[in-house]
Amino acid sequence: MKFDLSHKDSKSSARAGSITTDHGVIQTPIFMPVGTAGSVKAVHQRELKDDIKAQIILGNTYHLYLRPGLDIIGEAGGLHKFNGWDGPILTDSGGYQVYSLSGTRKIKEDGVTFMSHIDGSRHTFTPENVMDIQRRIGADIIMAFDECTPYPCEYTYARESMEMTHRWLDRCCKRFDETESLYGYQQTLFPIVQGSVYPDLRKQSAEAIAAFGREGNAIGGLSVGEPAEKMYEMTSLVCDILPSDKPRYLMGVGTPANILECIALGIDMFDCVMPTRNARNGMLFTTQGIINIRNEKWKNDLNPIDPELGGYVSTFYSRAYLRHLIHSKEILGAQIASIHNLTFYLWLVGQAREHIIAGDFAIWKEKMTKTVSQRL
Ligand code: GUN
Repeated sequence: MKFDLSHKDSKSSARAGSITTDHGVIQTPIFMPVGTAGSVKAVHQRELKDDIKAQIILGNTYHLYLRPGLDIIGEAGGLHKFNGWDGPILTDSGGYQVYSLSGTRKIKEDGVTFMSHIDGSRHTFTPENVMDIQRRIGADIIMAFDECTPYPCEYTYARESMEMTHRWLDRCCKRFDETESLYGYQQTLFPIVQGSVYPDLRKQSAEAIAAFGREGNAIGGLSVGEPAEKMYEMTSLVCDILPSDKPRYLMGVGTPANILECIALGIDMFDCVMPTRNARNGMLFTTQGIINIRNEKWKNDLNPIDPELGGYVSTFYSRAYLRHLIHSKEILGAQIASIHNLTFYLWLVGQAREHIIAGDFAIWKEKMTKTVSQRL
């Protein structure tokens, strides 16, 4: 993997760059659609590429390991071959899903024993087997096994958990470095900064993670219910410590406004279920603001969903038609709304990149934050 920074904003910490993987180039800042179980919900791979212009998608170790399992993914030749997405893929390690989804779980120094949310069967994730599993899934970027602390979180718990995440990282790196890609292309490992909302812990964690000298770094444990101001404060503090010549990935963030703010703080990569999950409930992000398409207000609106955005679904289908589909629980409603929201998220980060390059990012960001946050 290679990271080239091409532009730095003079009035903020925003930057524009590119990440080169064996499955293609990613222009940063970037938003990565979430494809939990090997599919971005309600979106076809061809739509991802041609309509949404996604450059990298996510998969989840926890889900893929439980179902369909590693044997069939391995037999296919890795996740790219299995799901037909031939662009870059990043897999999360399970260090989040195991806490949020599985039933009873036991966290010990060796790893986490948990119950499957699908059939109640028992499994153990350790730093070592999570590396092996992600090697087998075959993502281009794989994540370290960590503990994502909840919010709020007692200081002592946050400190001990962070220290364990660092020890786990040591084990992840060792296992990753003594194994090889199974499919002939390069994989790279990103560590994850933790430390809850405690500035001293975040500082310690960022310094510890930076010292591992990996090719990219992630920030976890945020957007878990803390106030946005805390999230920005932690992100800013951590970005100032993580090396500037490596990509920085803020996990699980966020709203369009969160993304613009965190680009200004120096984040290069984002993922979040919000555009797809909210789409299925009728919440649309548009170039003019936020629409709840279920509202009576849109019942007779035959205008396109978002004529300014461009893209097929957003200019072809009317608001009234999409409202009807969502109210009727038609599958096509979820499809159109998901494609639209993801097109918007990719447009937003693409615009941010253009304005960083043009040198007017700060002014653009102030105006755009207000526009995209208003409810229509
Ligand atoms: N996704 C969102 N936050 C986190 C986190 O802290 N750790 C991991 N592994 N994934 C996440």
